[in-house]
Amino acid sequence: MHCLKKVTNDLIWVGANDRRLAMFEGVYSVPGGVSYNSYLLSDEKTVLFDTVDKAVLYRFLENLTEALGNRKLDYLIVQHMEPDHSAGIAELFNRYPDMKIVCNAKTFEFIKQFHNVDIDARTQIVKEGDTLNTGRHTLNFIMAPMVHWPEVMVTYDSADKILFSADAFGCFGALNGALFADEVDFAQDYMDEARRYYSNIVGKYGKQVEALLKKTSGFEINMICPLHGFVWRQKIQTILSKYILWSSYTPEENGVMITYASVYGNTENAAEILSSRLRDKGIKTVMFDVSVTPASEVVAAAFKWSHLVFASTTYNAGIFVTMEALLSDLTAHNIQNRTVAIIENGSWAATSGGLIRKMLEKCANITFLDNMLSLKSSLKKHQLSEIDSMADALAVSLSLSAEKSAQATGVQTQSNVVDIKAMFKLSYGLFVLSAKDGNKDNGCIINTVTQITEKPLRITIAVNKANLTHDMILNSGEFNVSILAESVPFRVFEHFGFQSGKNTDKFAGFDNSERAANGIRYLAANVNAVISAKVAETRDYETHTLFIADVTQSFMLSNEPSATYQYYFDNIKPKPQPPKDQKKGFICKICAFVFEGDVLPADYICPLCKHGPDDFKPTG
Ligand code: FEO
Repeated sequence: MHCLKKVTNDLIWVGANDRRLAMFEGVYSVPGGVSYNSYLLSDEKTVLFDTVDKAVLYRFLENLTEALGNRKLDYLIVQHMEPDHSAGIAELFNRYPDMKIVCNAKTFEFIKQFHNVDIDARTQIVKEGDTLNTGRHTLNFIMAPMVHWPEVMVTYDSADKILFSADAFGCFGALNGALFADEVDFAQDYMDEARRYYSNIVGKYGKQVEALLKKTSGFEINMICPLHGFVWRQKIQTILSKYILWSSYTPEENGVMITYASVYGNTENAAEILSSRLRDKGIKTVMFDVSVTPASEVVAAAFKWSHLVFASTTYNAGIFVTMEALLSDLTAHNIQNRTVAIIENGSWAATSGGLIRKMLEKCANITFLDNMLSLKSSLKKHQLSEIDSMADALAVSLSLSAEKSAQATGVQTQSNVVDIKAMFKLSYGLFVLSAKDGNKDNGCIINTVTQITEKPLRITIAVNKANLTHDMILNSGEFNVSILAESVPFRVFEHFGFQSGKNTDKFAGFDNSERAANGIRYLAANVNAVISAKVAETRDYETHTLFIADVTQSFMLSNEPSATYQYYFDNIKPKPQPPKDQKKGFICKICAFVFEGDVLPADYICPLCKHGPDDFKPTG
């Protein structure tokens, strides 16, 4: 039976899903299945955009027949000739004798290579900038070579401002009854799969994707219809902004991806200890055993993280097989603009480290950290300091990248009309947000409490997902807000803001707290009022959850003015003091290393961050 989805009043999705496919393109696992999208436009003329894979051809033909009703098919636009989108061409050619194929010259060649049909008399060849008028709609053809294959083109419908984007903006995963990205929790459930799809399928062709983004940047786009995955009709910027990062090989997150290949667990042990040292410094890490995790997942993660660590045992005088395969995959996908650290292991002749470096030297703009760690069978106690210095070097490099991207953001945002400094002019209050989940009490500092309506009396709070209080509110559905007054001492911010409830009980031994009617603690001192609320609705905003809540109780504790964010900076937060025992010499502006002495040698290099004399200034 047909299974259609309405896209707009005259556009219908006639594609199909496949959840039985084990390996997409024979190499990428698709545990969530995959969709093959095809769209039928019913204007004065009927137009089909691409077909599907042969595995779902029967369902697609049923869908198309139903969607056409008693109309004939006038045009088949072939945007991409990879067989997962073109398996139906010959069948349609024979079924619909009036159907014309619209494609570019390269596609014309490929159709003949893949299909035994004589299409010459029934093909309309188009090139960059050509259009096809179908009645109300005008379809504009834009060539997108190598946004995956050389023949790829995309189509822009200037009537409804829809971009039919071929492989661009696609995603692994069957649609499961939905069609639009806004019908699912895309950020949580599909963004990783969109990145895995992008990095593995078109990751090699960043320049070509950038060229396509540039060509389409002048179009007003209300909807994106890709060949795999969900249709975008809301928050299109969400996926566009990812494509800008991915196509320029710009890391999405500052943090460390640690990959290791370990035969007997000793290389893994060193990788674990490094990860643990980095976590102690508050640095985000992810770890992959490359003998276990599919390469497509590790490639996708490498596109996400800024710093990459490769740890491999030596095997047959080379790199361990699974690590070598991963590195081939990464270099083939053109990974670039990353900082790399290497750990090698070898019981008698360690070679893997040098070989890893050699493979990655083929990639553009890779910075190698100097301190490679070389193990002889296993990590020894005296080498822990080497792990520490690798963690230090990664930390320094990460803070430099963060600084660089902040500067880049500043420049970019100013030139793009968004000056982030404007956000600092918003006025905020400061609050202790507290919750109770079972027997656990916890609280954190927030600055985002707003009343939205009086009847019913409702407030919103936005809470960072990294906070334990966030998870507790999600579970319990209730919270208290203690509104901090100007008398609040800095130690309250230290207590509730600078430590995590995940490893401390913030209310144990904290004297100035009571329980409100909902049983949740609130601060009884340095607070002018308390609000208790029950969650009515939540909205996911990537890093934060917005809680919309009904006020269940509220009471005053004093008439003291509320502490604003500005007041906190001007009057509560201690001003930085010069260290009392500051040594005389020169301090590195990058990592704060101090060179002691009256004269800084002209060729001096900072032992920590490797910067030269230009980045030093006199102490005191
Ligand atoms: Fe699903 Fe390049 O095609």
